[in-house]
Amino acid sequence: MDVILIEGGKRLKGEVVISGAKNSTLPIMAATILTDGLNRLENVPQVKDISTMGTLLERLGADIHIEGNNLNINTKHIDSYEAPYELVKTMRASILVLGPLVARFHKAKVSLPGGCAIGPRPVDLHLKALKLMGVDIEIDKGYIIARCSKLRGASIYFDVPTVGGTENTMMAAVLAKGTTVIENAAKEPEVVELSEVLSKMGAKIRGAGTDTITIEGVRYLKPVSHVLRSDRIEAGTYMVASAITHGNVLIKRCPIEYMDAIVEKLKQAGVEIEKEKGGVRVKGTSEITPVNIKTLPYPGFPTDMQAQMMALLCLAKGSSVITETIFENRFMHIAELNRMGADIRIEGESAIIKGVKSLKGAPVMATDLRASACLVLAGLAAKGETQISRIYHLERGYENIEEKLRKLGANIRREKANENN
Ligand code: EPZ
Repeated sequence: MDVILIEGGKRLKGEVVISGAKNSTLPIMAATILTDGLNRLENVPQVKDISTMGTLLERLGADIHIEGNNLNINTKHIDSYEAPYELVKTMRASILVLGPLVARFHKAKVSLPGGCAIGPRPVDLHLKALKLMGVDIEIDKGYIIARCSKLRGASIYFDVPTVGGTENTMMAAVLAKGTTVIENAAKEPEVVELSEVLSKMGAKIRGAGTDTITIEGVRYLKPVSHVLRSDRIEAGTYMVASAITHGNVLIKRCPIEYMDAIVEKLKQAGVEIEKEKGGVRVKGTSEITPVNIKTLPYPGFPTDMQAQMMALLCLAKGSSVITETIFENRFMHIAELNRMGADIRIEGESAIIKGVKSLKGAPVMATDLRASACLVLAGLAAKGETQISRIYHLERGYENIEEKLRKLGANIRREKANENN
């Protein structure tokens, strides 16, 4: 497996263009199952998770045609309602085809996604919603077997504001008979963008982005064209890249309107962030101020930026506390950061990060998508060379990250690893 090698200490300068949002593209690709013709998505990030979802849709019978960042999905000939384990186990977001398949076929057979490094990631709330809509759910040999004679609207309350659960329920409800109300819905921008695409297809949805989403079922949804909005987590990652290297970077196509919590915390840490013509300028200052962070559902501080902020706070003048409230095991990057000379200890759901003067390059291992981004950021700031293994995690969600960083002046390259990596 390849490794990424970074010689740290280079101040990043120049411009970076943010790609389309992976976590909007995935549910929107699943939503095309609800239509029976040619859908066109533009500004789609070329990352592994997107090609995995494309493979899954092809397995269902769709015709996929990728041209760079544009994706044509013809769902006319979808004739299968089964999402097999060998695909679902590689990407949990495959569960997002469940709602659309039930809506289209009134049945579905979708492998239960396993857990993943950051937690057990149950889907009980997805299934609870479908049962309330009249779907019989059976678990057999690791598969969700769903079937219903009629899909009907229902009132659904989510114990936690689940992003995927909200998305799956929306995609089932748009073709159900009657009205569905989702209470305590997730408010993430990706949920709102999915709602916009469903509305373009002809769905009747209101309230996306608030706690309560109301959907009036319709009989038919038509294929659409849509240009994906930029990825707020990728943008936040490059903001940290500039900050941690005391750089000066213009971030183009930056969705700053969805990044209040991220920008607030970076400013508290002493990072200069200013809108200007053509983008958002981010400057790292000589001194990083410690800040305390608690991850929360949107609009709170996003869990997907937790690891990246931790890399920055390793170099703060003082101690910071980061509390992870969304996932049970999203601190695996700490052991790797400590290998680079960080001084972090875990107390329950919180990490206490005692700032150190500098990090030192070392061989480290990526454990999940955002942890791998965290190690890249730490490597950019560390003295000496950092070697990051298992970088397939990184490729799932960051388009051309080496090229984008190299253009900003980073000394970063990829190498074939020896057999024990
Ligand atoms: C989405 O995952 C994102 N993935 C994740 O991004 C993100 O971290 C997460 O939302 C939280 O913002 C995609 O959009 C593809 P959840 P999802 O359902 O939908 C619990 C990345 O790095 N829960 O909002 O799986 C769950 O255990 C990825 O890009 C239940 O208990 O997240 C967790 O504690 C990582 N039962 C919390 O809710 C359920 O049925 C939030 O999970 C569903 C969820």
